[in-house]
Formats: sequence, structure tokens, C-alpha cells
Amino acid sequence: MKIISVVGARPNFMKIAPFVQAIERHNENAKKPVLEHLLVHTGQHYDDKMSQGFFDELCIPQADLNLGIGSGSHAEQVGRTMIEFEKVLKAHRPDWVVVVGDVNATCACSITAKKEQVKLAHIEAGLRSRDMSMPEEINRLVTDRLSDLLFTPDPLSSANLRAEGVPEEKILFAGNIMIDTLEQQRDRASQLNLAEVLHRNLLLADQKQSISAITAGHFAAMTLHRPSNVDCRGVFEPLMKFLLDELSAQLPLVWPIHPRARKQLETYGLWDRVRRSPKLILLEPVGYHDMLKLNLSCRMLLTDSGGLQEECCVLGTPCLTLRANTERPVTLREHGGASVLVGNDIGRLRIESQLMLNIGRHPVRPENWDGNTARRIVEALAQRG
Ligand code: UD1
Repeated sequence: MKIISVVGARPNFMKIAPFVQAIERHNENAKKPVLEHLLVHTGQHYDDKMSQGFFDELCIPQADLNLGIGSGSHAEQVGRTMIEFEKVLKAHRPDWVVVVGDVNATCACSITAKKEQVKLAHIEAGLRSRDMSMPEEINRLVTDRLSDLLFTPDPLSSANLRAEGVPEEKILFAGNIMIDTLEQQRDRASQLNLAEVLHRNLLLADQKQSISAITAGHFAAMTLHRPSNVDCRGVFEPLMKFLLDELSAQLPLVWPIHPRARKQLETYGLWDRVRRSPKLILLEPVGYHDMLKLNLSCRMLLTDSGGLQEECCVLGTPCLTLRANTERPVTLREHGGASVLVGNDIGRLRIESQLMLNIGRHPVRPENWDGNTARRIVEALAQRG
């Protein structure tokens, strides 16, 4: 039985690593059918720090094929991926295409697979923000509508699919595959030295002095990259003002900066102010273990990333989610998680960040977020044939 799995962008890599391992384990145990596997990287993310670094850290074997898609508008990325992936499918004729997450590669390869009459499985199915301004929501809807097998991370996601009319036999509540990676890697991350993590990722040499003020439990960490936060000056500028003038005055802020956010700071003329702040430490985009170390060590985390909301839930890190909605409600405080939605409302951010200064860590482990998700997925695929 032949499977082609697809990755394209940073958040895909921690989801595919355990899947690849579970296939290897399945084959080592001489279980039938033997699974022939090809890994395709669409090349949406291509910088070492956004891509190859994760392959090395997570011991993902080199992709069998790289489509070299690179940057571009959504239509360009999706269109180029479809053209190249169609050639791959015609040459290799797999039984299944397996896609993960919600990036442009996920959607493009799903459409191509179905048009080539190849069965499609989606890992991380059923998430819904119901916010159609998010490119990821469109990618999720298209992918799930086309999938033959939908592996959901939690029962709420399974319920979303049922409500959309997906037949029961296509839905499998497998758990959160990214937590497989977290569980495998957390010991290694805990053993890292925080100061070394900061030093090796520091973006600007003149911020070296500021690092000495940062100790475990006494800093906030932040990631920010969504267009809804960084692509609109009216949102990004007041947010940066709050972070620079208020939050970082109370608690130093460590920010591994995404290429998109950096570009927008420069566009809006905010870059100089940010780089001169002694309390806001800018890092390059960091690797998996370094990010996990920051998450394990910080007092609170501010993010618009879906994956980090989930990691905060399991690690118990108080998490301010800089979004108006989430496709991952299981991570929210009202569902027992560690995250609270603040959107880009500075008033809410002010109140919630103060509250978070006074609460500790509350780790929560949703059902099936147990490190065995990839095994369940591979066994299910092998059974279906
Ligand atoms: C993509 C995903 C998003 C995910 C995020 C994680 C989609 C629709 N979005 O958004 O869900 O959370 O990745 O990072 O697929 N760039 C580089 N180097 C790279 C890759 C990109 O400099 O290796 C630049 C691009 O030129 C572009 C910007 O970063 O200016 C954004 O990259 P892009 O892949 O278009 O989307 P992301 O915003 O990263």
C-alpha cells in the first residue's frame, strides 16, 4: 500500500514527524500491509529557520520530493502546488494522500488528489473558527469536504464534521498528533539552558545586554504572524505601543519574530522603536526545542498561533490568544485550558495580562492527547487499505 504525505509550511513539520515514525514502526513490526511511503515538501516555507532546521531537530527524513513552490500570493502558491503535485501523483499513483493542518499546501494537494481519484486523509480535521477571513479556515473547509478519512484531534471537531453531514464512518477521533512530538521532545527541551537559547537566537547584537535580565518565570514570550494582526496598521501599531509602553515595562518580552511581522514593522516605520527597546528582545524565528524551552520557562505567552495555544494547554502556560476566535476551543479557559481570547482589543489585553501575572501553570491534557495519535492514525490507514 502506497502513501504520499505532504508538508509545506512550518506548522506541518511537527505534525508529520510522528506520522513518519509510526509508519516506520508499523513496517518494522512486519505488520501487513507494508506501507510504502513518500514524503513531499511543497517548499512553501524554504528558509532554513522555517523549514530544514525542523527536519534536522525532529529527525524527519529528507523529503523524497520538493516542489520548490516558495513565496507568492495565495492563488500563486495554491496554483503552482497543484500543477507540480499533479505530476507527482501521475508518476507515483499512491493509494492514499495524507495531508496535515490547514496551510496552502494542505488545500492544494487535497484538491489535486481528489481530481486524480486518489483517496485522501486529513490529520487535524474538523477544526472550525467560522471566520472566513482566515485563509486557514478556507483551507480546512475545502480539505475536510474532500477527505475520505478525517482524523480529528478532539470530540468538538468530530461534532463539527457531523453537523456538516460528514458520514460517521469517515470520522476518527485520533487525538492531537502535535502532542506526540511535544511528549517526545519535552525532556530534551527542558534540559536546554535558557540564556543559551536567547543568545544563540538573538536577532540584534546590540540587545545582548538586555538578555541578562531574563530568568525563568520572569518574562513573557510572544509569537505573532497572522495577517489580521500584522497586515493592518490600525491594529498592529496600537498593539506594539501597548507591548512597548505597558506590558514590557512590567515583564520583559521575548519575541521570535516571523518574517511577515518584521516586514510589516519596517513598512509602518515601527522597526526602529522596536529594535531600540531594552525590554523587548527580538529573536530570529526559533527552532522547535528552543520554542518549547521558551514556552516551558515563560510566565505567560502571547500568540496568534494555533499550535502554541495547544502546547500551552498541555504545558499549562497562561496564554493570551491575540485572536477574536479560535478553531481550537478545547484550549480555552472555559473548556479547562490555559488560553483566553483577547482579539486585538487593548483594553482586554491590559486586563487579562494583569490577571495572568497572578496565576500559575495549570496543565490540562484533553482526551487522546497522549502521545499515541500517530500510531492510531497509521493503524487506521493500514486497516482501510
Ligand atoms: C503560513 C500559513 C499559516 C501558518 C504559518 C506559520 C497559509 C495560508 N498560512 O503563513 O497557517 O501559521 O505559515 O509560519 O499557508 N517567508 C520567508 N521565508 C520562508 C517562508 C516565508 O521569508 O521560509 C516570507 C514570505 O516571503 C512571506 C511571508 O514570509 O512574505 C509569509 O509566508 P507565507 O508562507 O506566505 O505564509 P505565512 O504567513 O508564513
